[in-house]
Amino acid sequence: VPSVGLVGWRGMVGSVLMQRMQDEGDFASINPVFFSTSNAGGTAPAISGGDTGTLEDAFDIDTLAKLPIIVTAQGGDYTKRVHTELRGRGWDGLWLDAASTLRMNHDSIIVLDPINRSVIDSGLANGTRDFIGGNCTVSCMLMGLGGLFKNGLVEWGTAMTYQAASGGGARHMRELLNQFGTLNSEVSSELLDPASAILDIDRKVLAHQREGIDSSQFGVPLAGSLIPWIDSDLGNGQSREEWKAGVETNKILGTSADNQVIMDGLCVRIGAMRSHSQALTLKLREDLSVSEIESLLANDNEWAKVVPNTKEASMADLTPVAASGTLDVPVGRIRKMEMGPEYVSAFTVGDQLLWGAAEPLRRMLAIAVG
Ligand code: HSE
Repeated sequence: VPSVGLVGWRGMVGSVLMQRMQDEGDFASINPVFFSTSNAGGTAPAISGGDTGTLEDAFDIDTLAKLPIIVTAQGGDYTKRVHTELRGRGWDGLWLDAASTLRMNHDSIIVLDPINRSVIDSGLANGTRDFIGGNCTVSCMLMGLGGLFKNGLVEWGTAMTYQAASGGGARHMRELLNQFGTLNSEVSSELLDPASAILDIDRKVLAHQREGIDSSQFGVPLAGSLIPWIDSDLGNGQSREEWKAGVETNKILGTSADNQVIMDGLCVRIGAMRSHSQALTLKLREDLSVSEIESLLANDNEWAKVVPNTKEASMADLTPVAASGTLDVPVGRIRKMEMGPEYVSAFTVGDQLLWGAAEPLRRMLAIAVG
């Protein structure tokens, strides 16, 4: 069995990855070598009760270079520092990475095998060595809507997103919950009194949101509000998160330069915990019926779950609360829009830590070790 270096296994994405690997029995086909950026020499985590020894130093290039495969969820700064050095000395092992740093390099592949297994296989055969997880919103969209995108049926699309706190990180999730908590405590006595005036309650909540609430992670309050900007400003009015939708979708699909799917939209942070949602408008290349679209989506992969476009089903099955912690990617609200027969709406939700981050990497590792 191949030795696989694991870096960043203790963070949020890394922990989800470790759990999924244990659930699927993946550790039986690898010899895990655990690394740490801060605790080299410490005790490595016990996998299925077995002893995995001590933690190696994640900055020790000699040790890393002995491994045929390295998987990292340590983040972009680590990738920048270590990957160049490893490659610079001729290391030609497989680098599997959750960070965005190497994603758009011409010699890397974005991994999402239910959507682009053929791109991955030809990359492996042709010497590609860097396999990078995609942006969470893009991966979740393609898992839900793969049946349309893979069949070349989308001419263009907009994704208006509703992204969860977890996309910012663990501290952001804690901040959101603390904000909900302090907003509630500001008005808890009034809430206990059914006769209290709702506009007075609202005024107190707003005053706290505007002054006093801890927003050090997000920069502004998220609880009871939203943030219509995610990631950096590219200087052309577009956020980096919005830019990724177009470039990563096409890279994952492997579309040729003259056949690009145009994707753009607005990315918005909302107060959900770990599932990203998005409302899509798609311009199709053909006038397909809603039932044809639904069966294309349902049959594309085993995780896309078509939700009938009814109020009851949408409320029950098409929400972050319904999707979180599962590998299902519900996709619903599919209907023809007023603009014409080729204009279709859709809404999809996906766990940002599973299909959005850990699962494509886990599956890529399984493909790599065969
Ligand atoms: N950039 C994403 C977000 C998370 O902030 O929600 C990682 O893809």
